[in-house]
Amino acid sequence: MSKSTSKDQSGKVYLVGAGPGDLGLVTLRAKECIERADVIVYDHLANPEMLSWAREEAEIIYAGKKAGEHALSQAEINKLLVEKAHAGKEIVRLKGGDPFVFGRGAEEAKAIVDAGLAFEIVPGITSAIAGPAYAGIPVTHRAENSHVTFFTGHEAPSKTKSAIDYAALSKLGGTQVMLMGVEKIEAVAREMMANGVRGDLPVALVRWATTGRQETLTGTLENIAKRVAETGFEAPAVAVFGDVVTLRKDLNWYERRPLSGKRIVVTRTRKQAGALTAQLRALGADVFELPTIRIEPPTDLREFAKLVQDAHQYDWIVFTSPNGVDAFFEIFYKLYDDAREIGGAKIAAIGPATAQRVRNFRLHVDLQPEEFVAEAVVRQFQKQGGVENLRIL
Ligand SMILES: C[S@@+](CC[C@H](N)C(=O)[O-])C[C@H]1O[C@@H](n2cnc3c(N)ncnc32)[C@H](O)[C@@H]1O
Repeated sequence: MSKSTSKDQSGKVYLVGAGPGDLGLVTLRAKECIERADVIVYDHLANPEMLSWAREEAEIIYAGKKAGEHALSQAEINKLLVEKAHAGKEIVRLKGGDPFVFGRGAEEAKAIVDAGLAFEIVPGITSAIAGPAYAGIPVTHRAENSHVTFFTGHEAPSKTKSAIDYAALSKLGGTQVMLMGVEKIEAVAREMMANGVRGDLPVALVRWATTGRQETLTGTLENIAKRVAETGFEAPAVAVFGDVVTLRKDLNWYERRPLSGKRIVVTRTRKQAGALTAQLRALGADVFELPTIRIEPPTDLREFAKLVQDAHQYDWIVFTSPNGVDAFFEIFYKLYDDAREIGGAKIAAIGPATAQRVRNFRLHVDLQPEEFVAEAVVRQFQKQGGVENLRIL
């Protein structure tokens, strides 16, 4: 992404596919565009976590687009993109999945071209393929089908007659993948059966595919609408019609991970949550970061600095958290430039993360109790002859 060099200093619009939801399925190009954008206009189905890649000064605009609830109309979005580009901005228009797959990306690109402005397309991984894949359903299989059809269950309201020729679609066979069609599943299944598709054709609906909220509902053409009604299954979902659905029985991998279906809130500080969140997500959990702790520097910094300065006078220094280790050594190395200034003080650390943080400062941990509580340190001290004559920081 390079800043525009055109004479009129107009900006440029990047129509960027945000992928289906899993942050790992965003392209490197998309990330690069987000990191450099002046303005980001994003949709309901674009994972908002990727907005954290944006520059602090970037203007972030939600364009909505949850079915039937539009924060901005399509005409307003087009106008906004054109206005911002005329103002010389680099704009990322972030759209769920791929921008040119049922995403109105073409309409936006046309509005930009008509305004004489520049644009680029950054394709994304579409939910039409990734959704089934994360449900263990390959859209093609040599033994099952030789073509795939994508169709929409939600047609433009302006269309008086369905543009989908169900007779042709039914005759075509193969795998059919429907987007935006949960509400229409009954009518779609009815049309297909009326046009000769067998009632026992396997069908799967994958909702919030590739996210921690993914759920899959399977059935047959005959009973899928009933199953949707019974389970209260809701959009957004992709529907797969075809024999490939039966492969899920062996290939379902994503929903079989140990924490699949579990929602977990991580209350650590925003800075510290990342590693734990990533591990929980890798095990299948749906993780929310909700920091309930904020680490603040000591209120009396002078007093704290004095304690650090005198650390060598203590027999033991007990660290109870990685944050405590960081706070201590930040001051310590402002006061001293040699680790040996810690003198003969021994170091105890509660918990493996705390101990590791101490080691990161190239210092040996003399005591690490098996239980991760302060009382365990005291018990250890007592085993070693009591705490009566010890100076402990
Ligand atoms: C307006 S279309 C946009 C499709 C998008 N451009 C793409 O390539 O995935 C919205 C529809 O995409 C499907 N969809 C998008 N993301 C999805 C997800 N994570 N899980 C299931 N369906 C999804 C649903 O059928 C939804 O109604």
